[in-house]
Amino acid sequence: MRAVVVSALDTYSLTQRPDATLLAPTDALVKVRATTVSGSDAHLIAGHLGPVPTEGFPLGHELVGDVVEVGAAVLNLSPGDRVAVPAAPWCGTCARCRAGQIQLCLRGGIFGAGPAFGGLGGAQAELVRVPWADTCLSVVPDGVSDAQALTVGDILSTGWTAVREAVSTPGQTLLVFGAGPVGLSAVHTARLHGVAQVITVDTVADRLALARTLGADHVIDPSTQDVAAVVASLTDGRGAQAVVDAAGVPATIGAWAAVAAVGARIAMVGMPAGPVEMALGALQMKNISVWTGLGDLGHMDMLLAMIVAGRLDPAPIFTETVPFDRIETAIAQFIARKPGLVKQLVTVG
Ligand SMILES: NC(=O)c1ccc[n+]([C@@H]2O[C@H](COP(=O)([O-])OP(=O)(O)OC[C@H]3O[C@@H](n4cnc5c(N)ncnc54)[C@H](O)[C@@H]3O)[C@@H](O)[C@H]2O)c1
Ligand SMILES: [Zn+2]
Repeated sequence: MRAVVVSALDTYSLTQRPDATLLAPTDALVKVRATTVSGSDAHLIAGHLGPVPTEGFPLGHELVGDVVEVGAAVLNLSPGDRVAVPAAPWCGTCARCRAGQIQLCLRGGIFGAGPAFGGLGGAQAELVRVPWADTCLSVVPDGVSDAQALTVGDILSTGWTAVREAVSTPGQTLLVFGAGPVGLSAVHTARLHGVAQVITVDTVADRLALARTLGADHVIDPSTQDVAAVVASLTDGRGAQAVVDAAGVPATIGAWAAVAAVGARIAMVGMPAGPVEMALGALQMKNISVWTGLGDLGHMDMLLAMIVAGRLDPAPIFTETVPFDRIETAIAQFIARKPGLVKQLVTVG
């Protein structure tokens, strides 16, 4: 099979690898229909998440595909099923899974992220072995496109989780920092949480335009506007009762206290590149709660049902479609932050 492999620091290629195979009776083998490139891939290639192992590793953690083979213990899936795959599979039975912390499964890992993250196969490939298939895979209903299904295993779940953690009651104003794939997913899923008004903050005009398409009522560019003043004017001076930070940079973290209302909840899903200084006292004096964490991937069926029902359509997050044999260029353009590019739908087979 062909797969993208990171072979050394800053070095990756689409290359021939042995076919993925079943290793356990609870596994399914999935033939990839579509995959994509993410910021984590860029960080892994650049060695920001640890040194690249000498043996290299396959890349990619977002995919939708068709089941081609199942292990003897897989009861709910059959060859031919089209499935959405979570970026981080979980066993469902370890202490953390039983406590609801499936993102941090003791036996789990992240697809295509190297031995430090479980040594699983990569999604930027023709075949992927998925462990605990009955637990993790969601059959994609008819009427859901591959592009839509591709979002539920990572970005849409992460955006949805962030909004769930930020919004405490319907009718609130939600402010989302960052209009990348994760922030746009938060904007788009806000409607599922009864949000009255969505405000999005980003410095990139076409991303703000996309945020409007996906459900933002107001957009703010901090390079030309005073974010706190605009938020105050949109909230009768109160501030936003719910805040999602999907940028995770010092500038957005530093703005939390000024934009959040008294008693607000802030959900931080952006991953800061390093330690960040923050004025915790200013948050404390407004009774503000901060939640941080990973996207909860245990609600893929619900998100797929919302897509079927026409309540969600995350497809516009994909700003271009690329065939698999052009994926090396796609990765390079993603890393170089090609203007206008938000997310690529890479069609594999
Ligand atoms: N917690 C999780 O489970 C999880 C899952 C996936 C991704 N992430 C993280 O979420 C973050 C967002 O991911 P993404 O794929 O959307 O990345 P992205 O880089 O495409 O999006 C970040 C956005 O923030 C904007 N931004 C930068 N500085 C800003 C500022 N000062 N004010 C407002 N906006 C600003 C950028 O223009 C960009 O649009 C990343 O840090 C990523 O690592 C977390
Ligand atoms: Zn587990």
